Amino acid sequence: MKTLRFGLLTVSDRSARGEREDVSGAVVADFLRARGGEIPRMDIVPDEMDVLIETLIEWADSGEMDILLTIGGTGFAPRDVTPEATRAVVSRLAPGFAEAMRAESLKITPHAILSRAVAGIRGETFILNLPGSPRAALENLRVVFPALPHAVELMQNAPNAERGHAATPKG
Ligand code: MTE
Repeated sequence: MKTLRFGLLTVSDRSARGEREDVSGAVVADFLRARGGEIPRMDIVPDEMDVLIETLIEWADSGEMDILLTIGGTGFAPRDVTPEATRAVVSRLAPGFAEAMRAESLKITPHAILSRAVAGIRGETFILNLPGSPRAALENLRVVFPALPHAVELMQNAPNAERGHAATPKG
């Protein structure tokens, strides 16, 4: 199976200002590397819609990663805009991922319902929001991790699959 390449984008005003260590980014990176994942890019941005959109587009279109994980900014605070930025840059949503994350997380904490995380596809990159605390980020990632290889396989084979459909005679 091909090695999965991940971009890890922590979204946090305080971490971006250097006031809080990015523990969540570090634990997610450890989790992925321990399972054979590569992390070509990892960074921290503030909860700013325009910065987020610009970064998501640049990373997704770089061709350097199969999966772009955002960490944080999915809740109800006024500056939590990661889901809105994600929706603005993807062409197709993948609601099953967020549905599964919330359903499983609700078995752990009633606060799981507060995550507004979304997931979707931009070109050949899958973008998935994780909540921001180290514990929440890992609990959510564990739920979806087993489905990621097949998701990437299908997403990146899509152009051929489309050509195959077009060539199929009707009737
Ligand atoms: N999901 C799991 N599995 N475990 C958690 O501790 N925390 C919740 C929720 N999802 C949590 C969770 C809380 S308290 C919030 S506010 C939301 O994720 C959004 O977090 P964020 O704003 O840091 O993205």
